[in-house]
Amino acid sequence: MLNQGKVVFNRKLNNTIYYLRIKVPISFKAQPGQFINIKVSDDYVPLLRRPFSIFNHERGFIDILYKVVGNGTKKLSNKKREDILDFIGPVGNSYVDFFYEDEFKEKNIYLVAGGTGFASIHFFARWLLRKKIKFKLFYGAKNKKEIFQRFCKNFDVLIATDDGSCGKKGLITSFINGDKDTIIFCCGPQTMLKTIQSIKAYKKIASFESYMGCANGVCLSCVIKINKGKEFDYARVCKEGTVFDLDDVIII
Ligand SMILES: Cc1cc2nc3c(=O)[nH]c(=O)nc-3n(C[C@H](O)[C@H](O)[C@H](O)COP(=O)(O)OP(=O)(O)OC[C@H]3O[C@@H](n4cnc5c(N)ncnc54)[C@H](O)[C@@H]3O)c2cc1C
Ligand code: FES
Repeated sequence: MLNQGKVVFNRKLNNTIYYLRIKVPISFKAQPGQFINIKVSDDYVPLLRRPFSIFNHERGFIDILYKVVGNGTKKLSNKKREDILDFIGPVGNSYVDFFYEDEFKEKNIYLVAGGTGFASIHFFARWLLRKKIKFKLFYGAKNKKEIFQRFCKNFDVLIATDDGSCGKKGLITSFINGDKDTIIFCCGPQTMLKTIQSIKAYKKIASFESYMGCANGVCLSCVIKINKGKEFDYARVCKEGTVFDLDDVIII
């Protein structure tokens, strides 16, 4: 769905990471795990919109937490209060589609966020909190600058950084002890998701942030390999996902 919103703020949190709030119509509704595809430029460079997970959503606004990595995100970082943003969304399915309250009642719920994958997981963490469902958050990034503890105040969280500058030192996945009563929801680099595939758990549900072109199911640039038996198939992350049962995905 094509939408328009007004920038409320676009704050620089550190050298490369920004926190953007967009005022949207009251009728706008999104679920955790969904994303929006933003037209970041008023000219044709870059031509394609850029996808961002919804970091937070309350009635009348959505928040995005993003890292400047190239031309598109640089242009987004130049947006000012009152600027109009044109975006498509919400797009994709949700963690909530995989959340069966009865089945999950007796389980330990772990959320795992790697780098900017924190945005997507944060929205789900807020959803669980609102529903008074207990969970533990495992949050990993390269270094202290890329960890946003201020957004974790009400969470039971374990933090790890590659260089040990915040929380424990090492990959966040090395601090997760799963068992048959654990359900893992995760979002982050594919290397992290691949490691999580080998952690013992009752279920593992992951949101993928593949490179996207159209974000509308047409160009196939976002496909991942799916294996539900002997045959494998491809799924479009933007259309069938972004959230999948991690055991069904073949990560190369
Ligand atoms: C569903 C989805 C949700 C996303 N949510 C967020 C988010 O919440 N916060 C955030 O900071 N980013 C998020 N991203 C990534 C974000 O869309 C890209 O960083 C952005 O499109 C880069 O645009 P650019 O023009 O600045 O960079 P480009 O010039 O297009 O690329 C610059 C560099 O970034 C790398 N890059 C671009 N896209 C991706 C990607 N999808 N995955 C890994 N590397 C990439 C390129 O390889 C290149 O090295 C998400 C991506 C998807 C598909
Ligand atoms: S991005 Fe074009 S099909 Fe998914």
